[in-house]
Amino acid sequence: MIADEQNTLLQTMKARAEAGGGPERLKRQKEKGKMSARERIASLSDEGSFLESQKFVTCRSISFGMDAHRLPGDGVVTGSATIDGREIWLSSQDFTVLGGSLGEMHAMRIVQAQESALKMRRPFIQINDSGGARIQEGIYSLDGYGKIFRNNILSSGVIPQISLIFGPCAGGAAYSPALTDFVFMVEGISQMYITGPDVIRTVTGEQVTHDQLGGASTHAAKSGNIHFACASEKECIEKVKQLLGYLPSNSSEQPPFVRDGKDRKPRKSGRIASIIPERITKPYNMIDIIQDVVDASSFLEVQSEWAKSIVTGFARIGGRSVGIVANQPNHMSGTLDINSSDKGARFIRTCDAFNVPILTFVDIPGYMPGTLQEYGGIIRHGAKMLYAIGDATVPKVSVIVRKAYGGAYIAMASKSLGYDRVVALSGASIAVMGADGAAEIIYRKEIASAVDPTKLKREKIEAFQREEMNPYAAAATGLVDDVIDPSQLRNSLIRTFESLEGKKEERVQRSHGNIPL
Ligand code: HXC
Repeated sequence: MIADEQNTLLQTMKARAEAGGGPERLKRQKEKGKMSARERIASLSDEGSFLESQKFVTCRSISFGMDAHRLPGDGVVTGSATIDGREIWLSSQDFTVLGGSLGEMHAMRIVQAQESALKMRRPFIQINDSGGARIQEGIYSLDGYGKIFRNNILSSGVIPQISLIFGPCAGGAAYSPALTDFVFMVEGISQMYITGPDVIRTVTGEQVTHDQLGGASTHAAKSGNIHFACASEKECIEKVKQLLGYLPSNSSEQPPFVRDGKDRKPRKSGRIASIIPERITKPYNMIDIIQDVVDASSFLEVQSEWAKSIVTGFARIGGRSVGIVANQPNHMSGTLDINSSDKGARFIRTCDAFNVPILTFVDIPGYMPGTLQEYGGIIRHGAKMLYAIGDATVPKVSVIVRKAYGGAYIAMASKSLGYDRVVALSGASIAVMGADGAAEIIYRKEIASAVDPTKLKREKIEAFQREEMNPYAAAATGLVDDVIDPSQLRNSLIRTFESLEGKKEERVQRSHGNIPL
């Protein structure tokens, strides 16, 4: 009999904890096209694997009428689960309970899940759907955010941290996702900003909607604050699973090796030669080259909408995970500007932290010229690329696809910054600058005094191209390891990454390097 009563109480308590803010608020959540906090967990994790922590936690505050809101769980669900058989820890905020706002105990659940993830060295995934700091709990809420930020920072580079913004994420709350490795948002239901439209209107007079200010497209294309903008929560969740497939669970492990991939075997990369235009300045899509080289369907582009002159993403080559950084001739001729330097540098740091080898595809005329770039600090931002690649100890491989000029060559393809292997395709050119500019500077006086300056200039340009810019001039110095027939590039890269496995490069012990920020 007692056992029956205990069981009934248990069922009642569980039902209360799992009901969140009740059917009416859940209905409103659904009407917005959003899943519930628990549905999100179910969709993310392997069936039956979710193990909840601190399920019956309630808030301790009774001020401002909080005694009426003491629901078990306190507006967030936390615990461990598996994704494709791999252990992770997670938190999922429940907007139906006080708008998913973060008070003392709500924060405590997230903090403990983060600490468990760090102790177990497993990825941490946070699902945010919240009105921010719980106003009624004042400084306890702020203290909670501080603890979450600190755990984000202490976990950085040790375990992968992924944020899914599935609703509002306003004010200081937005800094936690910003401290993680990858941020996902959903078109139409996610908004993230430090100050909302009302405050902006009052302070600056600007009129802007929630979506214009902090919707998924805004952050994917304009601010560069996020890595993936998806059409639905389901799409985000599928992408998270794919992303985890390229990453180890922590910085002491190697990324998963896919033995049974559809297209792991050697084959010709036969389309490359027809993709690269003959005219050296004509644009083409570098992603077509990448697709021809990597294992079929394995390329996952990261930050595809922002700073498009550089392409970043994960792929597999012969089943091995690699991080790709590539110039995009289709956008601003593939030049490095402030944003593309930031994007490339951050991606390289992420790869290096998680033992993912780096592969660059190079076709770059140089850094972007202009007063906007200089005044905006291209020196500082461009230096981030140099720092990130020079500091990275993972295997680093570079393919010079068409041209590699100037300081950008150093960042993308130089032995001096520690690339382990640099190869050039047979039509590539490497120089301090393009032939036109070079001829004009070196032969300025000669050209000016010539009988036919245009003819002499053309001859000088052609001679410079022929003698200085072919890949064999660079290969003769040893700064290019090999010149490759494009159709053999994939096979050569499979062998290259095999040969670089187990690379060890030590650094002088220091507190930490001082990357230009
Ligand atoms: C307590 C909150 C809350 C909050 C929402 N609610 N935000 N309760 N603290 N921060 C409650 C509402 O009272 C309501 O309760 C329920 O959640 C749903 O909210 P609605 O406003 O009805 O929902 P909606 O219309 O969808 O609007 C969502 C919203 C809006 C845009 C997020 O609620 C909002 O603007 N909230 C305030 C956002 C904010 O300024 N937060 C503080 C940011 S500063 P009932 O009982 O009616 O269901 C911050 C500092 C952190 O976070 C600093 C860290 C360093």
